[in-house]
Amino acid sequence: MKKIFSGVQPTGTVTLGNYIGAFKQFTELQDEYDCIFCIVDLHAITMPQDSKELRKNIKSLAALYLAAGIDPEKVTLFIQSEVPAHAQAGWMMQCISTIGELERMTQYKDKSAKNESVSSGLLTYPPLMAADILLYQTDIVPVGDDQKQHIELTRDLAERFNKRFKKVLTIPDIRIPKNGARIMSLQDPAKKMSKSDLNKKAVVTLLDDLKTIEKKIKSAVTDSEGIVRFDPINKAGISNLLTIEAALTGVSIESLVAKYEGAGYGDFKASVAKAVTEHIAPIQERYKELLDSEELDAILDRGAEKAAMLANRTLKKMEDAMGLGRANR
Ligand code: AQP
Repeated sequence: MKKIFSGVQPTGTVTLGNYIGAFKQFTELQDEYDCIFCIVDLHAITMPQDSKELRKNIKSLAALYLAAGIDPEKVTLFIQSEVPAHAQAGWMMQCISTIGELERMTQYKDKSAKNESVSSGLLTYPPLMAADILLYQTDIVPVGDDQKQHIELTRDLAERFNKRFKKVLTIPDIRIPKNGARIMSLQDPAKKMSKSDLNKKAVVTLLDDLKTIEKKIKSAVTDSEGIVRFDPINKAGISNLLTIEAALTGVSIESLVAKYEGAGYGDFKASVAKAVTEHIAPIQERYKELLDSEELDAILDRGAEKAAMLANRTLKKMEDAMGLGRANR
């Protein structure tokens, strides 16, 4: 079976963007691939975090993975910091990447432009992400469109490592969903929906109560044309809502546009809100059952043990290739 690896940061409550761009793909892939999914808490600390909040977010994210349909019998689910090989291989990847190429990453440029002082970890986030992926000899990485540049860098670093030392790393491919690769902010449809957006009206989270979700969607920024059609450049708000409904219902955008012919924006938004709340309601029910359960801790313990076994195998090969430590230990 081909291997899949992906991660989500515990930096806040999972958004509809994270769900459509990542989680939904994960649940669709788990039957066909050997899947490893990670809560990337080491990535989260590249930006300042409140320690109590971070702990809460880690457990919450784990429960959401499962509530969204990840089956722990098929998938390895674990917390990144509980498998030390990630930090070790991350350092090796940092040592083969250059400051110039890391400074060119748009996520780094965006986040550092918004903050007066940023951690060096924000700059070296992509080599750590490369290590996460490469430790599992991953074939495919399912992510949203925003991670494309990081995956390209991961491929470059793997090729560089194999060429410079020894061929030990698999070169991964990216998988981006056809619908919903980039869900946009409800208040500023020119930028992506993000967990860390300070404007809470711009973001639907999987744990918002259903009435709040309805309200947020009904107050999404659109335009004054009054016609529901798909045109991401000139009608970004309407196109974003169409993308959301299509991704959650499986109905094509063309069929949705036909369905809304002659409808006003009020009716259109009410219908999108209904699709979203109907999709999210059962996830919230399952989440409540899982959050403080022993079952959740047992799944994460098993996941960390299995991940460590797999990761250490590659780490050893990387150390041998680079000449670290002593031979035959
Ligand atoms: N708006 C989005 N549309 C589609 N996919 C998205 N993803 C994120 N935002 C969207 C995908 O979600 C996965 C997890 O992302 P992450 O938590 O590792 O980091 P991120 O991309 O930085 O997500 P956020 O929500 O924007 O977090 P913050 O605000 O903390 O930076 C990835 O597969 C990503 O592509």
